[in-house]
Amino acid sequence: MRTAAAMAARDHPKGILMSGRTSLTIVLAAGEGTRMRSSTPKVLHPIAGQSLLAHVLSAAPKGSGASLAVVVGPDHEKVDEEARRCRPDAETFVQRDRKGTAHAVLAARKALARGSDDLIIAFGDTPLIAAATFERLRGALQQGAALAVLGFRAADPTGYGRLLVENGRLIAIREQADASPAEHEITLCNAGVMAFDGRKALSILDKIGNANSKGEYYLTDAVTIVRDLGLEAVVIETSEDEVRGINTKAQLAEAESVMQGRLRKAALDAGVTLIAPETIFLAADTTFGKDVTIEPFVVIGPGVSIGDGAVIHSFSHIVQASIGKKASVGPYARLRPGTSLGEGTRIGNFVETKAATLEAGVKINHLSYVGDAHVGANSNLGAGTITCNYDGFSKHKTEIGTGAFIGTNSSLVAPVRIGNGAYIGSGSVITRDVPDDAMAVERSQQTNREGGAMRYRELKTRAKAPKGND
Ligand code: UD1
Ligand code: CA
Repeated sequence: MRTAAAMAARDHPKGILMSGRTSLTIVLAAGEGTRMRSSTPKVLHPIAGQSLLAHVLSAAPKGSGASLAVVVGPDHEKVDEEARRCRPDAETFVQRDRKGTAHAVLAARKALARGSDDLIIAFGDTPLIAAATFERLRGALQQGAALAVLGFRAADPTGYGRLLVENGRLIAIREQADASPAEHEITLCNAGVMAFDGRKALSILDKIGNANSKGEYYLTDAVTIVRDLGLEAVVIETSEDEVRGINTKAQLAEAESVMQGRLRKAALDAGVTLIAPETIFLAADTTFGKDVTIEPFVVIGPGVSIGDGAVIHSFSHIVQASIGKKASVGPYARLRPGTSLGEGTRIGNFVETKAATLEAGVKINHLSYVGDAHVGANSNLGAGTITCNYDGFSKHKTEIGTGAFIGTNSSLVAPVRIGNGAYIGSGSVITRDVPDDAMAVERSQQTNREGGAMRYRELKTRAKAPKGND
């Protein structure tokens, strides 16, 4: 099985080109992201179920000879943690004051000083970047450029650094605030991603000053420095969609939409049937077997795998769950974290599961809550079966053996064990273990009053009859 994201062209091209070259990737993630108007650091906002930072880190070169540094802001422990969670090999550096992108890169001086063949700079807020793009930039270095800058044609270039190209050569990058009216017209823009000849990078970066309208150390000034040294800087172009930077919630939503488009296409290309792709939401790490069908209006969060031949019916919501081969889920099912469905299981409408392992052939067809539970193969849980897993203080486990039958509207008060082949009468509140092959019925005696319904109707009809002669 492959993840949707891997299928969405984030695969690392096999290193024909890069074989033998070492790399250091520095991801800048120290910005405050004030325009997000959120207490969460910008790079931790999610798209397709993963943080912006996680997307960038998974596209960055990895494996032997590839090292990774992430520059975080002060008080950004959460960013630090996320970086290490995604890439345990990542080294993190704190940029104390935010004095610009070149200043941020130099926060990782210790890593820079160790040297590498290629130095790659990426931004933590540019999550749609593909692994193959990093390799294209590195390809330019291998062909002799000292600096390769990723460029794109912006529909609206406002705010971006403009790439000044003369006779096919990149001569400078002009930031918006410093650009002339003629330069404002240029639509070829700096995506922010760059690759330097790693052996020259530190001396180039150390030459960058802050003589500009913002008084910041601009990474973009590296271009003129490279030219002044008589070295070559080149532009590698890509699509605007790939380098969308996220500064606002609106841009976050646009990036989500681009990412969902990619994930749906990748799923379709891999043979998944999506009946109305535009209504289905996937996560970057969703994995699919063969012949999976997903009906309209399904939401899949992180950590979901779907086995061969499984069908996810409409309006289901699934997070951190593994769905076995030929399982049928929904419509209107909610699979919460820790759900594991065996082969051929059937989860019907308005069924909620959490931390529940359902072995092969289990059926829970209607209106149930099954949490903190293990259900053995081929057991059948009738409509309205509820595992009472929480006593207000802690959670308890329900264990159901194989081939058990739980009658409708039963409450299983955990901790409790229902034996193999046991049978629970409808409407029971089960508080004690039920042995294998036993029948448990817990409900009060039924009374039938002969003629009682008729008497009741007469009583009511008399009371309702018009009084007097008005
Ligand atoms: C930057 C580029 C611009 C390019 C644009 C693309 C510079 C000077 N400008 O502008 O040419 O078109 O990106 O999106 O490089 N950061 C730090 N520490 C700092 C400053 C920034 O870590 O002191 C990080 C931010 O978290 C962010 C990235 O660097 O991830 C870019 O910074 P931002 O302020 O967004 O740069 P732009 O003004 O967008
Ligand atoms: Ca930006």
